[in-house]
Amino acid sequence: AVTTAVALSFTAQTAAASAGCDEGEIVIKFAHVTNTDKHPKGIAASLLQERVNTEMDGKACMEVYPNSTLYDDNKVLEAMLQGDVQLAAPSLSKFEKFTKKFRLFDLPFMFKSMDAVDAYQSSDAGQALLDSMQKRGLQGLAFWHNGLKQLSANKPLIHPSDANGLKFRVQSSDVLVAQMEAIGASPQKMAFSEVYGALQQGVVDGQENTWSNIYGKKFYEVQDGVTETNHGIIDYLVVTNVDWLESLDADVRDQFLTILGEVTKTRNAEAFAVNEAAKQSIIDAGGVIRTLTPEQRQEWVDVMMPVWDKFKGDVGQDAIDAAQKINE
Ligand code: LMR
Repeated sequence: AVTTAVALSFTAQTAAASAGCDEGEIVIKFAHVTNTDKHPKGIAASLLQERVNTEMDGKACMEVYPNSTLYDDNKVLEAMLQGDVQLAAPSLSKFEKFTKKFRLFDLPFMFKSMDAVDAYQSSDAGQALLDSMQKRGLQGLAFWHNGLKQLSANKPLIHPSDANGLKFRVQSSDVLVAQMEAIGASPQKMAFSEVYGALQQGVVDGQENTWSNIYGKKFYEVQDGVTETNHGIIDYLVVTNVDWLESLDADVRDQFLTILGEVTKTRNAEAFAVNEAAKQSIIDAGGVIRTLTPEQRQEWVDVMMPVWDKFKGDVGQDAIDAAQKINE
């Protein structure tokens, strides 16, 4: 009897500690893959959680599971369709099974800055992307920004030929596969949570990511250095299950979406600064960062940009033209 009592009280405590939700509240589980406090997505998720739990107390309750503790990005969308998680914010590179339209954002050198990305997403064409997976059961709610991608490897990368024959981890996107093939590298799709170990053990030689991801997951510790290429972007779609969203009472849904909209605006405005801080933290920690001359950077442009042709049909020439016009 004593054993049972102890076991019961342990179970009850664990449940209370992990849930933190009151009875009757709608539970919104939000699974993501980064850290919580030094990352554009992690900070935004934490702020969203704090605001929902304060302002919607009694009606809704958000539980955030960061650092791939609940699902990694390769599983989270399936889990969402099954109703096991209500919110996620995978990078736009991770939606290929659902839409090919997001390939625009993976094309190398498509956007010159995150401001250009923001302007495109705010356009009618960009906003239409939020609804592009409704038939597949997913509803986009907002775009969250990370930043521009850099390249790292276990040897210095100055010219594209330096990447020849190296194995690079990529997110699950065929555009990124083609981009790495264009520089003569061999791409390997892999979950974010596995990258550090793969770099450390030499399963792959290099990877591409934003400063906040390179710092947040300490990739710089297991790489020769990071080359500041700004050759692509990482941006996120905050996404939910169509049926779940429709199941909410209108006032609950409106309040939630209003809070999400405000958090999006506030945190997107800070994403650049969070990445700059991460870059500085890499330098402070003794990480090596290499910059390219304009001529050297142009070599990467020349080798990577032909990839656009291959995916023109998926994303549409009109989308490419609109993105390029914003860059001007
Ligand atoms: C990656 O897999 O490298 C990124 O999408 C991780 C993230 O969420 O920023």
